[in-house]
Amino acid sequence: MFRDVSSCNTYNYGDALYWDARYVQEAGSFDWYQRYSSLRPFVRRYIPTSSRVLMVGCGNALMSEDMVKDGYEDIMNIDISSVAIEMMKRKYEYIPQLKYMQMDVRDMSFFPDESFDSVIDKGTLDSLMCGNDAPISAAQMLGEVSRLLKPRGIYMLITYGDPTVRMLHLSRPVYNWKIILFIIPRPGFERPAGSSSSRSFLEPVPITEKGLLPADFVLEDPDSHFVYVCKKMDETEELQSIPDHPLMADVL
Ligand SMILES: C[S@@+](CC[C@H](N)C(=O)[O-])C[C@H]1O[C@@H](n2cnc3c(N)ncnc32)[C@H](O)[C@@H]1O
Repeated sequence: MFRDVSSCNTYNYGDALYWDARYVQEAGSFDWYQRYSSLRPFVRRYIPTSSRVLMVGCGNALMSEDMVKDGYEDIMNIDISSVAIEMMKRKYEYIPQLKYMQMDVRDMSFFPDESFDSVIDKGTLDSLMCGNDAPISAAQMLGEVSRLLKPRGIYMLITYGDPTVRMLHLSRPVYNWKIILFIIPRPGFERPAGSSSSRSFLEPVPITEKGLLPADFVLEDPDSHFVYVCKKMDETEELQSIPDHPLMADVL
């Protein structure tokens, strides 16, 4: 799979200069796709508050601030845009749980192997998929994410990319990731009157052996977002032997 051409408004999403220019103009804050409040059930279920978290492509989102308000103690934020990073450093100078560094997610050699319990990515792999050499960029980025995760660590990807365009990248055997998928509607979505669906968006969605949605799966909101929870397994662990866990009531 190459660029997600149909979903990219611009090829510049993979370009640091594009983002710098954008953040000069948009000095406030903005969260792509979803706010933390909607993602909280997934984040709290899979990422303990004591985790060392890496937020890749943080932009000027409130996500990390909201996580600290919810008890997270250590979040390293990186972004390719020096404009965004300088802005966020100033804004969060007095919040010691938040750190910011300008860095390209394709080369995070500043950090030693297995530095993080969790990596969160909301829209950053998506940006690379719109850039030049998208498959190479994706492989570089995911290789770095895999290297930085501790064994049994979690890479949480929040994306518009459905399994046909994302699983190919995520399921490379070299990563040995056990993947659980959730599908959540865009903010403001309401089930049409008379809809007979009772599916909870907090339930994992089954994935076929080929890494696709089951043929009879109905995507209620065509603009849904996909949450891939990728767990880095020990080399000795069999992927099939790890059960999926339902979301616990205490995080809802
Ligand atoms: C779609 S925005 C998402 C921002 C934020 N995560 C959010 O949820 O609102 C993508 C972000 O990825 C950053 N980015 C793009 N390419 C990058 C790269 N190679 N390395 C690090 N960050 C990158 C952009 O600067 C931008 O802030």
